[in-house]
Amino acid sequence: MNQNQDAIPHGDPYAIFEDWFAQARLSEPNDPNAIALATATPDGLPSLRMVLLKGHGADLGPDFDHQAGFVFYTNFHSRKGGELAANPHVALLFHWKSLRRQIRIEGPVVEVSPQAADAYFASRHPESRLGSAASDQSRPLPSRQTYLDRVAAIRAQYPQGDVPRPAHWSGYRVIPSAIEFWQDRDYRLHERRRFVADGAGGWTSTLLYP
Ligand SMILES: Cc1cc2nc3c(=O)[nH]c(=O)nc-3n(C[C@H](O)[C@H](O)[C@H](O)COP(=O)(O)O)c2cc1C
Repeated sequence: MNQNQDAIPHGDPYAIFEDWFAQARLSEPNDPNAIALATATPDGLPSLRMVLLKGHGADLGPDFDHQAGFVFYTNFHSRKGGELAANPHVALLFHWKSLRRQIRIEGPVVEVSPQAADAYFASRHPESRLGSAASDQSRPLPSRQTYLDRVAAIRAQYPQGDVPRPAHWSGYRVIPSAIEFWQDRDYRLHERRRFVADGAGGWTSTLLYP
């Protein structure tokens, strides 16, 4: 690409995200929806783990009252769940090695509706539903067998595979206050564009030195 040409358009950051994500789906070897999710401990220490993006865009559909954002699902009793209950601010990071691209997203989370969580939980493989229902995520586990026994007990309880969603297993919607795109360019003359929400549904964008 010509070094003078912008790789990251001004436009709508959700549209750029959609375009880059579509390319990542074609080129990443696995989990193009994997994101590093940073929260903070009550003492302000960083806390980081991967999650999977399960919804994104300017309109997430009727289960989300057509609101915008980035959605992931987890156990609300987990470490991250406790941290988010005290401080809803997160940072998300996508890094697609195959595309040499990075996207940073910052903002608070809100819980998704029970309808949205039910719909996503129902879409999961029955074995994944069992695994979530049996997991006291982030709490000490005496042995792996203990976990497998709990999975087996719930499987026996729901032989049809219709495990209900545990009330503490749900999703968070990140409401982005900033979205920043990073594109690798020749000789490390990389390109960064940061979009900041203007509070009225629009965005202002600025190029940053790489
Ligand atoms: C690629 C990848 C995707 C993951 N996706 C999720 C996810 O969507 N939800 C989740 O709760 N944990 C997911 N995990 C596990 C988390 O990284 C983490 O171990 C778990 O959520 C407990 O984190 P916590 O103790 O900080 O709450 C994933 C791990 C990897 C490596």
